[in-house]
Amino acid sequence: MLDDLPAASTPAWADTRARLRDAARVCVLTGAGMSAESGIPTFRDALTGLWSRFDPAQLASEEGFRADPALVWNWYAERREGVRRAEPNAGHHALAAWSARRPGRVTVVTQNVDDLHQRAGQRGVIRLHGDILAARWLQDCPRRPACDIAEADDGAPPRCPRCGNLLRPGVVWFGEALPEGALDAATHAADNCHVMLVVGTSGAVWPAAGLAGRARRAGARVVIVNPHPSEIDDEAHAVLRGTAARVLPRLLALDGP
Ligand code: APR
Repeated sequence: MLDDLPAASTPAWADTRARLRDAARVCVLTGAGMSAESGIPTFRDALTGLWSRFDPAQLASEEGFRADPALVWNWYAERREGVRRAEPNAGHHALAAWSARRPGRVTVVTQNVDDLHQRAGQRGVIRLHGDILAARWLQDCPRRPACDIAEADDGAPPRCPRCGNLLRPGVVWFGEALPEGALDAATHAADNCHVMLVVGTSGAVWPAAGLAGRARRAGARVVIVNPHPSEIDDEAHAVLRGTAARVLPRLLALDGP
């Protein structure tokens, strides 16, 4: 069963399995790599990453949205369609099933704006960077709550008929603060876990990238799952070189109930 992941027989795997089995509290930090095998492009992978084809300043910032609302709105509309077409992969399902066997002991903190963890049945996901399937007003509007996305037929973002306020994607853009409650909850989970599993992130964006170091300094065992080196590998006690959909089912399923 493990022969297609030769590394799975190394001591690092066995040690990680044992620690995950025995840990009273586990924090799992996920990034775009978690959804890569569901067909959702990452941001920084050299050839396929979104930022190799698009300018983040133009497409993932309030300034970029104000400069060209239709361009940004349509780019997110395309990404939303990609998320809706995607399915959770074996990694999402393995993590959700393993978490369900440990009620109250596993906290998933994600940088991802898709809903694949949730659709795999993962409960209590802490979203650090928002939700691409949600929308909110560009200007805070006490009169009207954020509404579901009603795709404007002309491709421009929906506009409030009364005041002209624009709807914008419900994600955190560069230069914006993370949702306060989410960051506090994620920090609490990192400071209080016994094992932190970091899956599919380059560790390029703070404050999310700082959570692994926080966990380590608080005494947690930090293990990274990533087919490639990341900017936070030095924070890890162990690195399991492999993809989310191949590593997680093998790492977690063997643990048993
Ligand atoms: N399984 C696991 N990891 C993978 C896989 C896979 N199948 N494929 C790629 N990876 C790894 C890459 O090696 C890389 O380290 O996933 C990571 C993806 O890195 P990024 O594209 O930088 O994504 P992420 O770390 O989530 O970016 C953080 O940056 O642009 C912002 O808001 C955006 O939330 C995002 C944040």
